Amino acid sequence: MPILVGLGARPRELGHIPLEGFVDLRKFAPFAGAAVLSVSVLAGCGGGGNDDNTAAGGSSDASCALAGAEDPGNSEAPSDVPTADKAPKLTKTSGLKVAFSQNASNNPWRLAETASMKDEAKKQGIQLTVTDANNDQSKQIADIKGLIAQKPDALFIAPITEQLANVVKDAGAAGIPVFLLDRAVDDSVAVPGQDFVTVIQSDFIQEGKRAAVQMATATGGNAKIIELEGTTGASPAIDRKKGFDDAIKECSGMQVVVSQDGDFTRAKGQSVAETLLQSHPEATAIYAHNDEMALGAIAAVKAIGKVPGKDIQVVSIDGEKDGLKAVAAGDLYATVECSPRFGPSAFQTMKDYASGKPVKTLIINSDQLFTKDNASDNVDKAY
Ligand code: AHR
Repeated sequence: MPILVGLGARPRELGHIPLEGFVDLRKFAPFAGAAVLSVSVLAGCGGGGNDDNTAAGGSSDASCALAGAEDPGNSEAPSDVPTADKAPKLTKTSGLKVAFSQNASNNPWRLAETASMKDEAKKQGIQLTVTDANNDQSKQIADIKGLIAQKPDALFIAPITEQLANVVKDAGAAGIPVFLLDRAVDDSVAVPGQDFVTVIQSDFIQEGKRAAVQMATATGGNAKIIELEGTTGASPAIDRKKGFDDAIKECSGMQVVVSQDGDFTRAKGQSVAETLLQSHPEATAIYAHNDEMALGAIAAVKAIGKVPGKDIQVVSIDGEKDGLKAVAAGDLYATVECSPRFGPSAFQTMKDYASGKPVKTLIINSDQLFTKDNASDNVDKAY
């Protein structure tokens, strides 16, 4: 279950002037990068990668401050985040009928999120309607339009990409309080605290930075990396790429040699990795934006007779059960947690809003890191 550590609003591109009433999480990236560097310097690291696990052919690069650095952990909560004052109000506190537009049910993460929402609704005696967009953006737009027509008291949306902003705005214009879960939308179209109440999510840029430190440590700061991106246009894909790519600029021995969309699925992760491993035989590492793609990639590595964790180091994000098993087995070097258990925080935030308590326009979850030191102990608790 995520612990809420920070309150804010929606990520935007670096250098963009935030809209009034909006805090840009992406603007914190340079500070987080500096934090990573200072932690590593304090730790006296630089080329201190785990030699046992360093990918074959990769010697430690003493100039890479990320290698062997401590996990930078969760980002600091942005302090100047406004409250949702102009969004549609929710005055009902009992007999609530709410809806949840889920974007897909094609991986354990999505299934765990939906289960968490259903469990919490049941616990609280709230009627919950769930739709599944089947990883199809036009279906999710149609789903949300159908839900708007049903006039729910509140609407939770896990948007497939940032382009869902228009339909989010439509829901707000229909007077429905909207709560975004796990992914954000384009805030230049749908304004946080006005068109929707808030977005509850992990700090995806920080996840990318944390993954970069693990990758640097696994490879001693020398890596030719294949990057498997999440669904194009999805905020975690945009931010996990930014966090990781920015962080590895600290290390001249680490380069992303190719980066391609693996759609957050195991099957696509595997097929894309198969192709990229062939076209980039020099690759020594794979950074996958989620565990499912990493697991597909690990299968692809094995299929060409290479050994994950030895010839090719793999790092990813999520912390699902199979991911933790892969870490315990040594196939996956580490996975940065991104908890899907949104039910308790989603419904608590909705209740706070209904009772008139101030609700910030961005709520950031706190996540842990899974490595060989703690993966086995967490397998049973994982989804
Ligand atoms: O938005 C969160 C991401 O979406 C998770 O990392 C991934 O597994 C899911 O599909």
